[in-house]
Amino acid sequence: MAMSALEKVIKKRAFAPILNRMVYAMETSIIIEDTGGKLLMATDGAEMLTRYPVSVAGEVIGWVSGSERVAAIASLLSYQAESELEKRSLASETLNKYKEITLLYDIVEKISSCLDTKEVARLVIEEARRVIRLSSVSVLLLNKETDMLELVAEYGHEQDTSTTVSRGVGIAGSVWASGRAEIVNDVHSDPRFIESAVALSSLMCAPLKAKDAVVGVIKLGNDQMVTYTAEDLKLFTTLASLAAVAIENASLYEQLKDAFYTTVYTLAETIEKRDPYTGNHTKRVMEYSLAIGKTLGLPEDDMARLQLGAVLHDIGKIGVRDSVLLKESSLTDEEFEQIKMHPAFGEEIISRISQLKSAIPGVRHHHEKFNGRGYPDGLAGDKIDITARIIAVADSFDAMTSNRPYREGLSLDAAFEELRKYSGSQFDPEIVDAFFAADVMEAFFTANSRQKIVL
Ligand SMILES: [Fe+2]
Repeated sequence: MAMSALEKVIKKRAFAPILNRMVYAMETSIIIEDTGGKLLMATDGAEMLTRYPVSVAGEVIGWVSGSERVAAIASLLSYQAESELEKRSLASETLNKYKEITLLYDIVEKISSCLDTKEVARLVIEEARRVIRLSSVSVLLLNKETDMLELVAEYGHEQDTSTTVSRGVGIAGSVWASGRAEIVNDVHSDPRFIESAVALSSLMCAPLKAKDAVVGVIKLGNDQMVTYTAEDLKLFTTLASLAAVAIENASLYEQLKDAFYTTVYTLAETIEKRDPYTGNHTKRVMEYSLAIGKTLGLPEDDMARLQLGAVLHDIGKIGVRDSVLLKESSLTDEEFEQIKMHPAFGEEIISRISQLKSAIPGVRHHHEKFNGRGYPDGLAGDKIDITARIIAVADSFDAMTSNRPYREGLSLDAAFEELRKYSGSQFDPEIVDAFFAADVMEAFFTANSRQKIVL
């Protein structure tokens, strides 16, 4: 059987001898028992005279019986039990603080390096689940265009369909409006509560504040009625404020990345405009290349440089004269030599911009052939960068299927046949296989949607 609180005090190594000496010095008989009736100490000849309670925080934990003199023992035991209790709660408070700090440190470590808002939201949910009693969490971020909060990540909400929140509507909407975190321990008695498919009894909701603006809201709840405390709320709001900083960083990074891609894309399109018949070639080559890369399972870094390379592959054509580039009849050898300069021109242009350098292999080598008979360097096999081998297939497929003023594009079947025919000589067979395994058709229709090509 577990020891009672009083038994623990009496048996404590540092305290037991003191108690014994006091009893001996008092020259009196004594009986000490806990509230369960267990006899913890009894001297010879002890008889019950008066019972003095031993109590902690107003609660009786045992009795000391004997003459009037033993009242002092009862007081001493009460004092000792009380200080034990204080020590324990102090220790658990310190432990909680320690856990909280470790937790927050862990979170900062994990999310501060994350540059994707959805990933930050997912990590925050993971951490919240680890430290707070909950059965559902949702992270809602402000869409500045619609001025609504939109759900970006959730846990435990599988059947919930409400994914947007208006300012001031519902508990999340009112936390957004006030900018203050809230505990609602009984949601059904809160008039702001909006019924949803998710069973919810208690919730906490905190704003995501970046600088002074609320950029979103985190809401977590429990399907059981629980009492969230001020301590829970403190931990939760700290988590929310860390999340807000990370989300703001990630979203700035995303905006910067978007602006960067838009600029690069506009640059490529400007070149394309010189030759109106190639309309949308850049976009299609990018879509096909990404579909192939995805099928090959390329890592994120390679996908990023593949995208840039595909967009910029013909940027060097800016250095080729119109009379050659736009010539509709066949080219002379000298003119063809000029066209063959465009990959090197392309490299020269993008090598001046540090953010574009990763696209150099794709740009310089997109006309290399798998058998080494391409240009400009005559590289073969896997000496040709993977992005260039992919762009070569995507570029050729698009050139074959596009209409030109002086010739009709090939039918899809004929273009497929050409790819198969030159697989292993002009093209890397693995890339051709990936092309056929990839959802290139989806990319084809997406890229051609504006052109309405009838197959
Ligand atoms: Fe090219």
